Amino acid sequence: MVKKSHTEKTVGPWAKQKLDALQRYLEAYMLVMKNQRFRLFYVDAFAGAGIVRVREGSSADKARPENALIPEAFTEEDREQLVEYIAGSPLRALRLERQFDHYRFVELDSKRAGDLKVLGTQFPNCDVKVHEGEANERVQFIASHFNDLNWRGVAFLDPYGAHLHWATLEALAATGKFDVVINFPLGMTINRLIKRDQVIPENWQAQLDMCFGCQNWRDVAFKTETDLLGEVRRKRDDAAEYLLNLYVRRLADLFGNVATPSLVRNTRGAPLYYLIWASSNPRGKKIANHILGLGEKVVLPERHPSVTPDVRGTQP
Ligand SMILES: C[S@@+](CC[C@H](N)C(=O)[O-])C[C@H]1O[C@@H](n2cnc3c(N)ncnc32)[C@H](O)[C@@H]1O
Repeated sequence: MVKKSHTEKTVGPWAKQKLDALQRYLEAYMLVMKNQRFRLFYVDAFAGAGIVRVREGSSADKARPENALIPEAFTEEDREQLVEYIAGSPLRALRLERQFDHYRFVELDSKRAGDLKVLGTQFPNCDVKVHEGEANERVQFIASHFNDLNWRGVAFLDPYGAHLHWATLEALAATGKFDVVINFPLGMTINRLIKRDQVIPENWQAQLDMCFGCQNWRDVAFKTETDLLGEVRRKRDDAAEYLLNLYVRRLADLFGNVATPSLVRNTRGAPLYYLIWASSNPRGKKIANHILGLGEKVVLPERHPSVTPDVRGTQP
């Protein structure tokens, strides 16, 4: 069941950074593929409605040059009303100069899926299919049928929370034909599910196990310290960095190639999510590093000693 907030189409101004990076990557991908004979698929698994409304923001934005024209007399409420419509990930992919041969959009929310179907009709020359349903199930289905030697694809995986299952990434990696661009909402949601008091509801734990594809997030997020009371287990202050490290190293094991994650912050500077590129094909890595790296690059911490051998991978 999709929560009500999922049906609202408003997003924070930082969504632009993610979408601009995705668009630049897709443009570069199509350029590289221009002279190759592959049939190209674009899969957008948490596709949204196609078009998003950007909140122009809070007082924290006043310093931004693009907001210089907003009248000083505007109240906070007036500013919240200022919105701009921008193309969401499906529209960005459809509007590419050189298009993909096939577009597959997956969206759980029926209103948004309906909007996507309407959007598809505006591109009559494109093979657009909208699947109203669960992203992981559908992408795993697509991956299991992705058996033509001449097929290649890009999958954009943009969940709000810990909803992208590791099994879905395994299925995409097993094809050997997909580049994936993941929006990993670590600061926005995933790290918040791992509560400091360690009282984590069972369904959250199960969601995190599915998202990381292992239970090691527990070992890296918490550490044991000795104080006057003896040994105590506490959440690390830098848990987010260690969780990112775990995820990226596992991705490197799975795909073989991972670009340096790029951090997207909100207007107050708080880390929200990371854009992460992975592929079994090393060729796109340089491009992804360059394009995603236009955002804030991330230096990963040393491997945590409690990380078990299955997550020790190539240094991305
Ligand atoms: C972050 S938004 C996507 C925004 C979109 N990629 C864009 O940039 O324009 C996440 C979307 O995933 C949808 N969603 C949430 N859980 C889902 C699931 N399990 N399967 C498919 N869609 C889901 C939500 O309804 C929402 O539209």
